[in-house]
Amino acid sequence: MRSYTNGVKGIILAGGTGTRLHPITRAVSKQLLPIYDKPMIHYPLSTLMLSGLREILLITTPHDQDAFFRLLGDGATLGIKLSYIVQDQPNGLAEALILGEKFLDGEKCALILGDNLFYGPGLGTHLQQNTSVQGALIFAYQVSNPTAYGVVEFNDNGQVLSIEEKPAVPKSTFAVPGIYFYDERASDFARNLTPSERGELEITALNNAYLERGELRVEILSRATTWLDTGTHESLYEAGGLIRTLQHRTGMRIGDVDQIARDHGWI
Ligand code: DAU
Repeated sequence: MRSYTNGVKGIILAGGTGTRLHPITRAVSKQLLPIYDKPMIHYPLSTLMLSGLREILLITTPHDQDAFFRLLGDGATLGIKLSYIVQDQPNGLAEALILGEKFLDGEKCALILGDNLFYGPGLGTHLQQNTSVQGALIFAYQVSNPTAYGVVEFNDNGQVLSIEEKPAVPKSTFAVPGIYFYDERASDFARNLTPSERGELEITALNNAYLERGELRVEILSRATTWLDTGTHESLYEAGGLIRTLQHRTGMRIGDVDQIARDHGWI
């Protein structure tokens, strides 16, 4: 198989237990549930493809891997190269960088969460220009319920002071969406993290490791971008409705991986 990487590889983390969506997710992976007319995983996959990434690792639970493979195969029909690895237990988002170390093989990466949807004019072009980072690049997005997320604190000059995971008293309304760009050191840093009180290797702890070194860039995502996560019944339902409305209204397709592959000339 020819090499598709230009120094940056993609990882989609699509494991976890999906407990907040029980009973739906007792038998089916959350990331295979429909968001209107496509499986959820198509949306984060499309975001990585729009970023120009063609070598992508999909991390799933052991029992869901077959189903993902049936859906996406080795990626050849999309002109990309997909690899698969399992996460035995939901030990935290930062574990993706440890599990993916061999796949990354010393290259930079973009990590995206399998339940995060991004949509916005120019987003692909914007991400394409930012995939190859020194240090780490994450985003901040204004939300009404910051306590559900990683939260960024800025000072008056726009400098980042802290990032806190699901703080009871958030220091801002800027949440960190589930797409992260890291340089070659991410796996090393992830391996040196200590698990949080809930026993997870937190992605916020990895981002703080870069912040402490003065090597974390946080970019505010414009209001023109839509960011949704789909971890609850409400947000799942809302996301499906929004995709349906946008597609009907504009006639454009959102998260259509075949169309993106054709537009890029990959197939
Ligand atoms: O959605 C963005 C947020 O994602 C960030 O703002 C937070 O900083 C980050 O911790 C994360 O928070 P969540 O509470 O949304 O994470 P959750 O545990 O729901 O996991 C996100 C996805 O990753 C979900 O689809 C399940 C999957 N997952 C989760 C864990 C903990 C795994 O595949 N493996 C895991 O070990």
